[in-house]
Amino acid sequence: MFDIAPSILSADFARLADEIAAVEEGGARILHVDVMDGHFVPNITIGLPVVRSLRKATKLTLDCHLMISEPGRYAEQFVEAGADMVSVHVEADPHLHRTLASIRSGGAQAGIAINPATSLTLLEDALPFADFVLIMSVNPGFGGQAFIETSLQKVRRLRRMIEEIGAETRIEIDGGIDATNIAEVVEAGAEILVAGSAVYGTGDPSAAVRKLRELGTVWV
Ligand code: DX5
Ligand code: ZN
Repeated sequence: MFDIAPSILSADFARLADEIAAVEEGGARILHVDVMDGHFVPNITIGLPVVRSLRKATKLTLDCHLMISEPGRYAEQFVEAGADMVSVHVEADPHLHRTLASIRSGGAQAGIAINPATSLTLLEDALPFADFVLIMSVNPGFGGQAFIETSLQKVRRLRRMIEEIGAETRIEIDGGIDATNIAEVVEAGAEILVAGSAVYGTGDPSAAVRKLRELGTVWV
């Protein structure tokens, strides 16, 4: 079973509660929250106070994608703020083991995010300490970018790596997912599909989630 995780980055921030209710109505169970610091990535978005408010406003699983430098300093605070899943970038953290452990000990699922040009070999020893891996299929920083095709191969390779060690790690993919590529991405082995503009860039986020779920279901 796969999940569509709508990214609120492309939502109307002044109407967040309504925007969240709409995707929930469409069948979304996970809400993707993009945290950017203007340092690790060239954009600034939202932080802890917004996550605390989201926690009060929805029962959906909150998936916080930390695109920040020194994520080890903040990961636990996102768990305390109400995140159910927290991912940190392998490129940003020389102490992944410690950071992932701190996320888990707070009771959340720990994820490793990886940029398009970063090798999966960097994850090999870290996999047992993660509940999910987030493969970036665009360069992090902005919504609405085009899907990088080689990401499909990367998902397949990661799927094999996970099977080889007998782990249960879930694969999340983020960036440029839409109706044209969702079936391929599910077929390659991704289980959590982040979609920003393909959901909130349409006039009807609820229908968009339903449609993406339907298109992805072809393969399962
Ligand atoms: C990009 C973010 C994504 C973004 C995806 O840096 O991590 O989550 O919101 O947006 P789309 O689906 O429009 O590529
Ligand atoms: Zn993201």
